[in-house]
Amino acid sequence: LISKPYIEITLNLLARFGIAVERHGWERFVIPAGSRYQSPGSIHVEADASSASYFIALGAMAEGQGIRIQGVGADSIQGDIRFMDAAAQMGAQITSGPNWLEIQRGTWPLKGITLDCNHIPDAAMTLAVMALYADGPTTLRNIASWRVKETDRITAMAAESRKLGATVEEGPDWITIHPLPAGHWRRASIHTYDDHRVAMCFSLAAFNADQVPVRIEDPKCVAKTFPDYFEALFSVAHTASPHIPVICIDGPTASGKGTLASRVAAQLGYHYLDSGALYRVTAHAALQAGLTLEAADEAAIAKLARRLPVRFEGEQVLLDNVDVTDAIRSEQGGMNASKVSVLPTVREALIDLQHSFQRLPGLLADGRDMGTVIFPNAPLKVFLTASAAQRAERRHKQLILKGFSANIDGLRADLEARDARDMSRSVAPLLPAQDALQLDNSSLTIEASVEQVMVWWQSRQVFGA
Ligand code: DC
Repeated sequence: LISKPYIEITLNLLARFGIAVERHGWERFVIPAGSRYQSPGSIHVEADASSASYFIALGAMAEGQGIRIQGVGADSIQGDIRFMDAAAQMGAQITSGPNWLEIQRGTWPLKGITLDCNHIPDAAMTLAVMALYADGPTTLRNIASWRVKETDRITAMAAESRKLGATVEEGPDWITIHPLPAGHWRRASIHTYDDHRVAMCFSLAAFNADQVPVRIEDPKCVAKTFPDYFEALFSVAHTASPHIPVICIDGPTASGKGTLASRVAAQLGYHYLDSGALYRVTAHAALQAGLTLEAADEAAIAKLARRLPVRFEGEQVLLDNVDVTDAIRSEQGGMNASKVSVLPTVREALIDLQHSFQRLPGLLADGRDMGTVIFPNAPLKVFLTASAAQRAERRHKQLILKGFSANIDGLRADLEARDARDMSRSVAPLLPAQDALQLDNSSLTIEASVEQVMVWWQSRQVFGA
């Protein structure tokens, strides 16, 4: 039996439910006839200890306050909780209480260790990446089972660590990882072999002192045990905004920016900023407050914009918890937005809010001035256009589908008027950034446009080869 700790979990839980299993070594387990479950009263369902290993490691590595893990504590019945002892040997400072752990950086760099990992084969993979941050080599022994898991994990861990620049030795049932000092990290694209643990543990390589980016291929493979692993990671990890990639998609009204940006965002797992919606909501809030959308009320509108209680929930836009989606998405809503967007102090007032969308792992931002003003250093900027005739036709289709009546010629005149205002205003006018790539999607399907942006994004190689 290589997974004795898991058998112990079963036996332990059965005992809590009043079933005393007779054990005959590790070969035979007998449940006496007549055994009956008895309620244990209340029982805490523990969080998964092997999933916790990544955050225990992170706590050991992180500068600052460390990390608190809820749902599992040192007295867990899961074998993998012993990972915390290994992490402590490497330098982590761990305190624990009923169903929680707190981990802080202790010794730094971490200490290289030699450890028999037979009792924690899964969590031990995390040690292999911690080893890159140690002061000497780390040898993990008695891990023959790694060879017959989701993939040959010894080969995989060795190959991927080497891509980062590490020196690794391996044998039939052991692996030795040498530390990777500052100045020696190489940007790498980590192959995950459809192995959730490879993806999760190598995400810890992204905290290297050289700040070289690490790409995790096929990150969705974490779904096997921890579908929202990266969301959890990004909720506790921080980096300076220049390290958070932004893709800007600017262009005129009805060019399909929103659809394109949100599809690319979904594909990359990035956040999405619909900046036009902010101007729409601002105009809506201004009208509700009894203001006009003219320069005379500029200061009052800017004041509203500075504290705009706006929230996006999927397709829904909420202002002060009221759903204003339909109101702001109308043609009139667009025209009103265009009017307030001319006012310089209103634009200024919305800057911080727009910047706040730049969060890990990245952002797709669409609008008029994403690439020119709001995110001028974005590594990819797309300027999306389509002929006025095409755009009027698309908008017409959209409105008819929603059950509104509409006239194509009127729509085209409206959108040309809006383009003219957006392009001629003095502050942040609609125009392609100097380094923007132009994409005319008049005769492209949405899929083809998405594909084009993905190809451009790959070619920027923001995360290395
Ligand atoms: O993208 P949209 O149609 O929702 O935008 C509505 C108006 O808001 C647009 O006509 C001009 C203004 N806008 C802007 O000035 N700057 C942006 N970044 C986005 C929109």
